[in-house]
Amino acid sequence: MNSLGSAFRALVIGSSGAIGAAFVVALRNDPACACVSELSRHTAPAFSLEDEASMAQAAQGLSPLGPFQLIIDATGTLTIDGQGPEKHLGALNATALLRSFQLNSVGPALLLKHFTPLLEPGRRAIYAKLSARVGSISDNRKGGWYGYRASKAALNMLLQTAAIECHRKQPQWVLAALQPGTVRSPLSAPFVGTADALTPAQSVAGMLQALDGLPAQSGAHFVDYQGDFVPW
Ligand SMILES: NC(=O)c1ccc[n+]([C@@H]2O[C@H](COP(=O)([O-])OP(=O)(O)OC[C@H]3O[C@@H](n4cnc5c(N)ncnc54)[C@H](OP(=O)(O)O)[C@@H]3O)[C@@H](O)[C@H]2O)c1
Repeated sequence: MNSLGSAFRALVIGSSGAIGAAFVVALRNDPACACVSELSRHTAPAFSLEDEASMAQAAQGLSPLGPFQLIIDATGTLTIDGQGPEKHLGALNATALLRSFQLNSVGPALLLKHFTPLLEPGRRAIYAKLSARVGSISDNRKGGWYGYRASKAALNMLLQTAAIECHRKQPQWVLAALQPGTVRSPLSAPFVGTADALTPAQSVAGMLQALDGLPAQSGAHFVDYQGDFVPW
């Protein structure tokens, strides 16, 4: 990346996932990146999206490795407790819907709460969250996937709101919702053939290039791995 200076520090949350792990590799190979820290359910400190205290502890534990100029949250889930996305209204289930919101909207919002304070103030810094095009309300022409779509739409609103607040205090910061494309991963495997999907490395290379070019603004960006803006 060119826009964050010659020795930027990065943190990848959800580094155990296919896309998160590819971010770690790409950033370790970037000569401009001085250090990459990882956080997942399997690192020390560890965290869970369902446990705010664990996020606060992890943020405190990682704070000496900051401040960071780039934080990426690559967490997310589609199949929850063995249940895949709902194809029709009759499949809606309150427990599954709430779990989807817990993991894809509430958890990431609490990560924003605890980790934006680790971004470096007073200069360009980026907080990027993996969202999904299916969370776009205006782009929804196919229907289905109720819980995943709605939880990503809620996530986008939380990010947009946080971006407006952050811009008042830190006008050089960039907050972004990312659409990675269809990427080979445990999340997508039940729904797409590998031939039709990007490798995580291809997707991540595109997303880093897209992030590099985003200007600071009041409000979040919603951008895909090709650098194209996605309608909210
Ligand atoms: N793959 C695609 O085609 C695609 C398309 C559009 C959007 N996305 C988005 O991209 C992001 C990454 O997806 P991926 O394909 O890389 O999926 P993945 O390989 O399944 O990775 C998901 C990540 O989320 C973490 N996670 C899930 N539940 C958690 C919890 N309760 N607490 C803490 N961490 C938790 C996982 O941790 P564990 O390793 O501990 O399970 C893992 O690090 C997601 O937000 C997804 O919605 C993906």
